[in-house]
Amino acid sequence: METLIAEPEIRQAVTLLGKQIATEFRDEDVTVLGVLTGSIIFLADLVRSIDLRHRIGLIQASSYRGATTSPLELRINDSLLPNIRGRSVVLIDDIFDTGATLSALISTVQAYEPRRVRSAVLLWKVGKSKVDIQPDYYCFQIPDRFVVGYGLDYNDDYRHLPYIAALDPDDA
Ligand code: IMP
Ligand code: MG
Repeated sequence: METLIAEPEIRQAVTLLGKQIATEFRDEDVTVLGVLTGSIIFLADLVRSIDLRHRIGLIQASSYRGATTSPLELRINDSLLPNIRGRSVVLIDDIFDTGATLSALISTVQAYEPRRVRSAVLLWKVGKSKVDIQPDYYCFQIPDRFVVGYGLDYNDDYRHLPYIAALDPDDA
């Protein structure tokens, strides 16, 4: 495994993003909405750097299984979603790859009539998008490699790594 993004770099970028969100959403009723399971570590660090009163919510999306590129059916579970009507939602996901997940999540969330929805991802695999949206905020753009750590998994493993690593098929 090769470390792509080390812990201090992640900390710095996440702190910066938190400051940016705090500035841009001041005077709004904000819910930071984390996407399970990949965003949990990013979410936990990010909210602690948003120096603005806000709520935290969760929604679940699942699609991928393993490093294969054939995506499984995307399933969204919004049973954990708190009331977001009239609130500004910042949707937090681990990675924007094809964008299919984020795009579907935004549609789901919009149906609950928030004031506005913005999206923030830790990683953005640029050039792979299959949808016409982009993340509003991101911490890092990365090349098209399979990555794990800081919440991201391969077969539900490696989420606990405090850094981002590229996983070669041989390592898996
Ligand atoms: P998208 O719908 O193609 O944008 O994929 C988004 C989801 O696929 C993410 O929330 C991840 O769960 C998963 N995913 C995409 N690329 C990777 C990766 O390199 N490592 C781990 N998970 C990934
Ligand atoms: Mg995931």
